[in-house]
Amino acid sequence: MRPAIRPAVADDLAAVAGLDEVCFGPEAWSSAAWGGEFERVSDDRVILVADEGAVAGYLVLLVPPVEVDVVELLRIAVAPAERRTGVGGQLMTAALKRCAGRTVLLEVAAGNESAIGLYGGFGFEEISRRRGYYAGGEDAVIMRWRESL
Ligand SMILES: CC(C)(COP(=O)(O)OP(=O)(O)OC[C@H]1O[C@@H](n2cnc3c(N)ncnc32)[C@H](O)[C@@H]1OP(=O)(O)O)[C@@H](O)C(=O)NCCC(=O)NCCS
Repeated sequence: MRPAIRPAVADDLAAVAGLDEVCFGPEAWSSAAWGGEFERVSDDRVILVADEGAVAGYLVLLVPPVEVDVVELLRIAVAPAERRTGVGGQLMTAALKRCAGRTVLLEVAAGNESAIGLYGGFGFEEISRRRGYYAGGEDAVIMRWRESL
């Protein structure tokens, strides 16, 4: 079954925070941090969830006021059992529809082949690196997307 992609509601907070812990382990955002993200939904955050009855994936965008061109993709993850079935792509498609005419930036660990593969498939390109940015010395790759006209 293909999940429905919809904006997150307050009741999704526990499921999203729980899935974040599964997907990111020690790098997961705390419950308090997730609470803060959900509180900002009326302000500058867009949180989308892939809903299959349970939350199968989620994505967080920082969308500043329109006079600021740049949108930032802060987080995306899909439940391990659901990966490689197109859920991440569905979330990205829904997110990028909201970014028409704007630039989207994100940061990803250089060794994260699945994420870089996903982003590359949507036309994100590497524009910069932060050498040794992550614990363990891994580089951070900055990628940019602009809607092709
Ligand atoms: C990155 C992530 C969100 C991808 O989600 P997904 O649902 O598996 O992605 P999709 O099934 O939609 O895959 C879309 C495309 O991404 C690329 N991709 C996905 N997983 C990949 C992998 N393991 N290796 C290489 N490319 C991959 C492929 O191009 C794929 O298209 P294809 O299946 O037709 O070849 C998922 O792997 C994940 O949650 N990873 C852990 C969290 C994470 O690292 N988030 C990003 C932090 S910056």
